[in-house]
Amino acid sequence: MSVEKWEDREALKAAIKKMKQEKGAVILAHYYQQGEIQDIADHIGDSLALAQIASKLEDARIIVLCGVHFMGETAKLLCPDKKVLVPDASAGCSLADSCPADEFAQFIKEHPGHTVVSYVNTSVEVKALTDVLVTSGNARKIIESLPADEKIIFGPDRNLGNYINNITGRQMVLWDGACHVHEKFSVEKIAELKREHPEAEVLVHPECRRPLVMLADKVGSTAVLLAHARQSEAKTFIVATESGIIHQMKKACPDKEFIAAPGEDSTCGCNDCSYMKLNTLEKLYACLRDETPEITIDEKIAERARRPIERMLALS
Ligand code: 13P
Ligand code: SF4
Repeated sequence: MSVEKWEDREALKAAIKKMKQEKGAVILAHYYQQGEIQDIADHIGDSLALAQIASKLEDARIIVLCGVHFMGETAKLLCPDKKVLVPDASAGCSLADSCPADEFAQFIKEHPGHTVVSYVNTSVEVKALTDVLVTSGNARKIIESLPADEKIIFGPDRNLGNYINNITGRQMVLWDGACHVHEKFSVEKIAELKREHPEAEVLVHPECRRPLVMLADKVGSTAVLLAHARQSEAKTFIVATESGIIHQMKKACPDKEFIAAPGEDSTCGCNDCSYMKLNTLEKLYACLRDETPEITIDEKIAERARRPIERMLALS
C-alpha cells in the first residue's frame, strides 16, 4: 500500500469523506487516536463503546477501525460478514503481547476449576481460551455479576486485576501483564503537580499502578474519565492516561484545563501509545482506497473467540 504525504489537510479530509461514501464504509476511532482522526470518524469511543457500536452496524459494507489491532479483531468477530480494515496492521498492544496464548493456556491448566475472565486487550487466541471478556468500562459490573465464591483467573493486566480485586473484595488469580504506557506514569511527579495545582482533580485509568490509583479523584475507562471531566465542578485536571483523550476533553470542556500526567523519564513521551499513534490520516485514506490491510481470522478460532465477547455484551 503506497501512502503519500498530503500537505493540504482539508483536501485530504474531503478525499476521505468522498471515498468513505463511495465505498459504504464507516470509520470508528478510539479516543487515543490523533485528533484529526477522531474528528473525521463517524463514531468515537472507548473499547467497550466501539465493540457495542460495531455489533449494531447494519448498513456498512466496510468498517475502518482506527485503533490497535485487537480492536479491529473485536470488530471482525462481531461483524464476520463485513470487511474490517485498519490503517496500519502493525499497530499492536504491549498489554496484549504480554500474554502469549500458549503460556496463558498453561496458566489456565495450573488453575483447574477457575472461570477465565480476560480484558479485551488480548489476541483472538487468548479470547478463544476465555469464558467472559471485559473492558475497563464494564469489568467491575461483570465480575460482580459472577457468584461471590466463583474462582476466577484474570488476565492479562495485573493493574486492572488488582484494582478490581480491591474494589470488589474478590481474590482473582492475576496474570502478570501490563501496558507500557500506563505503567510509566510517575507517581512522584504527579503528586508534585497536585501540590502545585491543589484544585486539580487527578484522573487515572485503571491500567495504572496501584499507588497512582490511590492518588486519583476518579478512576475509570477513557469514556468514564471524559464523562467525569464534563460533569465535575473542577476547572483543572491531571490526566493519567494516553494523551489522545485530552483532545476530546478539550472539545467537551473548552473552559477547563487538562494537564497530561508526566512519565518517569521526561524524555520518554510516556503518555503517547506508540501503537495508537502509528495511524495517520494519510494511512486512513490509503486503506480506504486500497481496502487493505484487512483483518482476517481463522473461522475455527473466531467461533470460540466470539462467545466471550457476546457474553460480555449481554452482561454490559
Ligand atoms: P479503554 O477501555 O478505556 O478504551 O482503554 C483501552 C486501552 O487500550 C487502554 O490502554
Ligand atoms: Fe495497549 Fe497500552 Fe496502547 Fe492501550 S495504551 S493500546 S493497553 S499499549
